[in-house]
Amino acid sequence: MINRIGVVGLGYVGLPLACAFASKSFKVIGLDTDLEKIELIKRGETPIYEEGLQELLRKVLEEKSLKVTSSYREMVEETEACFICVGTPSNPDGSVDLRYVREAIEMLGESLRRVDKYFLLVVRSTIPPGTTLNVIKRILEEKSGRRLGEYGLCFNPEFLREGRALYDIFNPDRVIIGAIDEESGKLLLDIYKKFHGESIPPVLMTNPTNAELIKYANNVFLATKVSFINMVSQLCQRIPNADVKVVAEGIGMDKRIGREFLNAGLGWGGSCFPKDVKAFLRFGEELGLRSKLVESIIEINETQIENAVKLAEELVGRLEGRTISILGLAFKPNTDDVRESRAIRLIEELLKYDVEIKVHDPKALEKAKKILGDRVIYCKTIEECLTGSDLCILATEWAEYKELKQEMLKKYMRSPALLDCRRLYDPGEFKQIKFAAIGLGPRYVKSLSSNSEE
Ligand code: UGA
Repeated sequence: MINRIGVVGLGYVGLPLACAFASKSFKVIGLDTDLEKIELIKRGETPIYEEGLQELLRKVLEEKSLKVTSSYREMVEETEACFICVGTPSNPDGSVDLRYVREAIEMLGESLRRVDKYFLLVVRSTIPPGTTLNVIKRILEEKSGRRLGEYGLCFNPEFLREGRALYDIFNPDRVIIGAIDEESGKLLLDIYKKFHGESIPPVLMTNPTNAELIKYANNVFLATKVSFINMVSQLCQRIPNADVKVVAEGIGMDKRIGREFLNAGLGWGGSCFPKDVKAFLRFGEELGLRSKLVESIIEINETQIENAVKLAEELVGRLEGRTISILGLAFKPNTDDVRESRAIRLIEELLKYDVEIKVHDPKALEKAKKILGDRVIYCKTIEECLTGSDLCILATEWAEYKELKQEMLKKYMRSPALLDCRRLYDPGEFKQIKFAAIGLGPRYVKSLSSNSEE
């Protein structure tokens, strides 16, 4: 039974995973090559914002069930298995950059040479189908001098969502184990049995290639769902009285469809969907399969930005010379991550119009500054962000923005107008100001409860 686990890569995936294992009576060693990050974590500070993570990190550090290091040797000597959670960014052509995975496997392989024990390697980083068998296995055997049976290897995709990482780790829908041999699969399953106890979710045991493909197909399917509803939202905007939110509600009641991932908005962003959709398209092409479906979902995602700019123009006329307040910069609520954020994409587009932009976000201001620099004005409060503005755009649906009231917009803005790009608001509550929302048909300014059209 494996009780001592290493986690390589302490980012949005690895750090929550390391803390979660450590909280369930595993002894965990987290490894990262970024020494600043290691120092921060040692002091109990999380380098990322993730709900509940700070508290859990401090707890497991205090209990000494988690320790962190930058030494592979130390990790390999003190553990029996290791989860690889390093990033797999995109190359400029959309293919996957495996540099960090290769580096991690090389380092691990070299350290394995120095110890004499069976070791289980579990890859969680998203990698194209065939990578575990054709790349990872080869590097590992070359560097460690071992043969299968002296080590175990699984690809084990992760499905956690940023902002809900801990919840998803403790309550997954399923566990997918892509094992290179029976022993590897059995050992990993035992780890999950110990972790989840009685409430272990359904397990699918398969080969690494299927598991790799499941991860991509999963993300691409979810992105397709979002692009589908965004396409419907563009249609709704052309039909008086139509509302995409109600349409989503209706189709979502069909169990075969389901309500989740049918929220129309600015499109999908983040560190996963954009890169995984592009990679899926790319390795399909390499195999002689051109997917028009996947090309289309990317195109729809782009047109949602144009769609939002058009709605902004419909609301306030020419954009030139206007002051625009943007609420929300993170790629979605409850995270400080701004990678491929649609809010930032929208800002880049608006900046082409010679506008002044003021921005607010509860957690992501610092990370956004690294991208937007001095091209926008950063505001600490919502009031400050609204002051003197001609248009307020809700770009990321943080719960605290739900409190925004018509009176507040009237009080602080130069000429109050609200564009709801995430369908957070009830249009009926903004009857006295200019209001538009993605997926709301023309002339549809009405109270949803009274059903009366204005
Ligand atoms: C996504 C997947 O949901 C996870 O299962 C997966 O593990 C992860 O990628 C990954 O591959 O690591 P995440 O990127 O954290 O998780 O974010 P999501 O909650 O999936 O949202 C992705 C984007 O879609 C966001 O920009 C979000 O605003 C957008 N979205 C999502 C919508 O516009 N509408 C929706 O209905 C749902």
